[in-house]
Amino acid sequence: MKAVNLPVSAGMNERNNLTVGGCDLAGLAKEFGTPLYIMDERTVRERCREYVKCFRANYPNTEVVFACKALCVTGILEIIASEGLGFDVSSGGELYTALRAKADPKKLYFHGNNKSPGEIRAGLSAGVGRFVVDNIYELKNLDAATRELGLRAEVLVRVNPGIEAHTHEFVQTGKVDSKFGVPLDQLAVLVKEVKKLELVSLKGFHAHIGSQIFDFAPFAAEAKLLLELTQEYGTAEIDLGGGLGIPYLASDQLPPIEEFARQVTAVLKGKTEAKLVLEPGRSIVGQAGVTLYAVGAVREIPGVRKYLIVDGGMSDNPRYVLYGAQYEAYPVSHPDAPRDETVTIAGRFCESGDLIIKDGKLPAVKAGELIAVAATGAYNYSMASNYNRVPRPAMVVVSRGRAELAVKRESYEDLVSNDAI
Ligand code: LLP
Repeated sequence: MKAVNLPVSAGMNERNNLTVGGCDLAGLAKEFGTPLYIMDERTVRERCREYVKCFRANYPNTEVVFACKALCVTGILEIIASEGLGFDVSSGGELYTALRAKADPKKLYFHGNNKSPGEIRAGLSAGVGRFVVDNIYELKNLDAATRELGLRAEVLVRVNPGIEAHTHEFVQTGKVDSKFGVPLDQLAVLVKEVKKLELVSLKGFHAHIGSQIFDFAPFAAEAKLLLELTQEYGTAEIDLGGGLGIPYLASDQLPPIEEFARQVTAVLKGKTEAKLVLEPGRSIVGQAGVTLYAVGAVREIPGVRKYLIVDGGMSDNPRYVLYGAQYEAYPVSHPDAPRDETVTIAGRFCESGDLIIKDGKLPAVKAGELIAVAATGAYNYSMASNYNRVPRPAMVVVSRGRAELAVKRESYEDLVSNDAI
């Protein structure tokens, strides 16, 4: 069972059940319950290696850091750290989790457009390698914290490159009207301010143009801009952020990381010795994940629509609700059967918009059967909520026929544990 939107280890066993990492998904449902996030260790490791190999082959002075907003779970970060990647952390919570996963603090890039003074102090005390400064207000807080603690900070300045990438408006970040980064016409002033500070030193520039991008031209334009800034200010680091897209549907074309690396590094090769930093999130973990659901009610409205209602929904995967994101589902039993039904997969939440897939093609599936939604490894668990006080699902990491619990299923007791009265 091979498909570009499934984990690389996906297969089908002698019972005609879908397997990931050598584990029968029906068996995982029995053992861990549903809904269940399943992460394939092999896909995560392969993606990490591909990034490092493809970029270093073209441009040896490259560092790859995982954007942990895509999936911030100790066990997953441990796998990624063991592949030698650093981390982009964008909050105190992500910093805490990365440190818990024994990440090398020097390989941490502390992002965020409104880091609190407490978060800045935590980052300094942990010895994070780079602060990515988003604005002048933050720079002042950083200056104050370095003097208070007597600790140095090495910074990248986040610029707003004014580049529009063709992706959903909510995940575009680099266009002129953006809450992120220093506009280019204000950069000289900010750099001057940084240079005045005793314990803060400027190492380079960062930009991030958006997410789920297939077109390499905006990345090349971004690299060119950061190269020019590097030459103008005599800095030594170029951080291009993340943003490479992944195939959500089996029919999507996979943007090869190798080609991405070739085109981006072509802009820099021979023109600079600066260190290149990449911050992929989705393209490391997205395809590694599937979410397993049990189908409950099947509601057929003749001539209108057929709904399969699952035991999860917008609280474990809010991406249809937020962005109209497209997904594809596979029945666990006979995943390769012809997809001759048009069905809508709806969730269990008190909201009409609570869908996972609208009018998708699926083989016939009955109440009580299991389905696996593909490519849910990124921005699903990390954006999950407890809407309707539904506990968040468990997550397992699968590899070589073994499944290890990475996140426990929440209990009702967990749900009320912070209710103070
Ligand atoms: N670096 C920075 C500074 C970022 O803001 C992001 C993502 C990344 C790296 C990683 O980007 P990636 O390689 O994952 O595209 N919730 C949205 C995606 C928001 C991305 C936010 N920033 C979604 O579910 O599509």
